[in-house]
Amino acid sequence: MTNNPPAIDTSLREASVRSKITGSISRYARSQESLAGGVSTALRRSARPVPLFFDHGKGSRVTDVDGNTYIDYTLAWGPLILGHSPDVVNEAVSVQLAKGHTYGAQHDLEFEVAELLCKHIPCADLVAYANSGTEIVQVALRLARGCTGRSKYLKFEGHYHGWDDSVLVSYRPSKQQIESSNGGVIPVGVGQRPNRETVPVEWNDREAVERAFAEAGSDIAAVVCEPLLCNSGCLPADPGFLQFLREITTRHGALLIFDEVITGFRLALGGAQEFYGVTPDLATYAKAVGGGLPLSVLAGKAEFMSRIASGQVVHAGTLNGNPVCLAAAKAAIEFLAEDGGAVYSQLWSNGEKLRKGMEQLLRDAGYPVVTSGGGPVFHISFMDRPARTYRETMASNTALYSDFGLALLDEGVLVLPDGRWYISTAHSEADIDATLEAVRRAIS
Ligand SMILES: Cc1ncc(COP(=O)(O)O)c(C=O)c1O
Repeated sequence: MTNNPPAIDTSLREASVRSKITGSISRYARSQESLAGGVSTALRRSARPVPLFFDHGKGSRVTDVDGNTYIDYTLAWGPLILGHSPDVVNEAVSVQLAKGHTYGAQHDLEFEVAELLCKHIPCADLVAYANSGTEIVQVALRLARGCTGRSKYLKFEGHYHGWDDSVLVSYRPSKQQIESSNGGVIPVGVGQRPNRETVPVEWNDREAVERAFAEAGSDIAAVVCEPLLCNSGCLPADPGFLQFLREITTRHGALLIFDEVITGFRLALGGAQEFYGVTPDLATYAKAVGGGLPLSVLAGKAEFMSRIASGQVVHAGTLNGNPVCLAAAKAAIEFLAEDGGAVYSQLWSNGEKLRKGMEQLLRDAGYPVVTSGGGPVFHISFMDRPARTYRETMASNTALYSDFGLALLDEGVLVLPDGRWYISTAHSEADIDATLEAVRRAIS
């Protein structure tokens, strides 16, 4: 960064937060004795000062075991599109719980939810279910390989598609890793299988995509991307870039896969493909589609999905399509679709008021700040100019953002450590006003 932003005094903040979260601190110590790392997924460990333990949540608020209530913009890392414990989902789930948790067999909710998905998702002629985003991306890639008879796929740096070895590469590499990689794939951790199937390319780099197809086009089964790069700064595609991906994949006989695990049912009822007006061949959904319960969906065109329908491409899972999660999904999707998806204009206006209000407050206080994305999911970075690629996001002052997050926690606002903010339909304008007040206090 070129200028020196005002510091946020974290010694006082940290002491203040620690005095309020003694129950979480002792539970975290206890948990680490039996649960590896004291958390159930690696990223949660980065919470500062320690990962919090929660007792309950309702609407836009979540309450920890020490009785502190926060306005929540983490939304469990995205799934809670209707906020915490929404009544419509609770009722649907409790009706189903009394009827059975899972049958390992067919039931009406399977086709009822499938019909809703096919109605709202532009590329969906047919759908298939699984339980997590990681799994469903694997189904999509297998299907792309099965349809094309090719083994490779093109992935963009900074994009996250789950923790399987095949995709957990070139995610957020360090400068040193980039320098020593020679343009090849960069695994995130140790123990991953050598990856010969991934062709890594920078986001928004048309020439690199063209080069990759020129060099290996007959081996590339698919291009997969987050159509809004939510996992690395909410970076949008450059104007025309998604259309370009649509065109080049069609030209080379490869499939275009949108990973809509975050953008699905969040940017719009029809997800990013409706929002940007580009229809992929396949799309993957998780997080919001389950209304807070574990559900993932592969949606796609009949000409490709028919390989799953026929059983040629194997898709399996004991708990796939379980009725509890599908009851939640049906309630959530029906709620979101009421009045033609009218609730999305509220999501957008509240989210934009917060994003722009916060940007202004921070800028007025002398912080070089950039926001990207918009409305239902956006990102705040302390940096001088907007980024177009993951590598450009590396200029952001993440230590300062971490201090900002800690000060917000002290002021009763819970945010993710990486700068991403999620809004739910339960966030009211009063919540946004209260959050802007908290931001003012956090930087004062
Ligand atoms: C875009 C995207 N794809 C896939 C995944 C993997 O989903 P899951 O954590 O449910 O396995 C995530 C998770 O954050 C994601 O953001």
